[in-house]
Amino acid sequence: MHALAILVAAGRGERMGAREPKAFLAVAGEPMLLRAARAFAQAPSVDGIVAVVPAGRIGAAREMLGGVPKLRDVVAGGERRQDSVQAGLQAVPPSFDGVVLVHDAARPLVEVELIEAVARAAAERGAALPVLRLVDTVKRVRDARVLETVDRTTLAAAQTPQGFRLSVLRRAYEKAWRDGVLLTDEAMAVEHLGEEVVAVAGSPRNRKLTTPEDLAWAEGLLRREGLHPRAGEE
Ligand code: C5P
Repeated sequence: MHALAILVAAGRGERMGAREPKAFLAVAGEPMLLRAARAFAQAPSVDGIVAVVPAGRIGAAREMLGGVPKLRDVVAGGERRQDSVQAGLQAVPPSFDGVVLVHDAARPLVEVELIEAVARAAAERGAALPVLRLVDTVKRVRDARVLETVDRTTLAAAQTPQGFRLSVLRRAYEKAWRDGVLLTDEAMAVEHLGEEVVAVAGSPRNRKLTTPEDLAWAEGLLRREGLHPRAGEE
């Protein structure tokens, strides 16, 4: 199986309250984008990695990712997430006919097993993403008033990497573009197309690091693992 990873790292990360773009912040001494890129480089199905970064950071990102095997390109992202993904797609060679994995660089602790599971499901079924079931009771709230309790049995939180046969994602993006749909993830474009998206089991470790508290959580996790390595790790 051949997969190409697009790591989107061009967001401003305003909720983090830092001056650096979020994906360039370090987690336990290593920038998120570099950690994410290393995870994809280790995944057997991944042949190449494209990083999408803020326009002013291309040189810095090239330097940061210089030692990552399988790095193919570093390109400038856009205003919205879908613009950044589109920029990444333009860097995919025309001859490529495998699976594209779009991943938030802000999820630097993604496991190789999860990358492989999504790549496999996407190759077999066309489109796949990892999800986490919701454990809390979910309310619809407006202006600090509860409108209703939502049945959570069919609800799940979407993670990345989201995987697609390239032909499926290209068609989905073209239609979403034509119809002016604002996408918060890539699977949404395939849903808009009316085609199947398969859900695989996500991972709590693959959390998106959005706030300073998320960063502290990730550092604590890595510190604990440094003290007590998981089986098979140094
Ligand atoms: O803002 P949010 O947390 O949803 O961003 C998810 C991922 O998408 C991040 O890794 C961010 O860098 C990326 N992104 C991007 N281009 C944008 C907005 C977000 O690459 N315009």
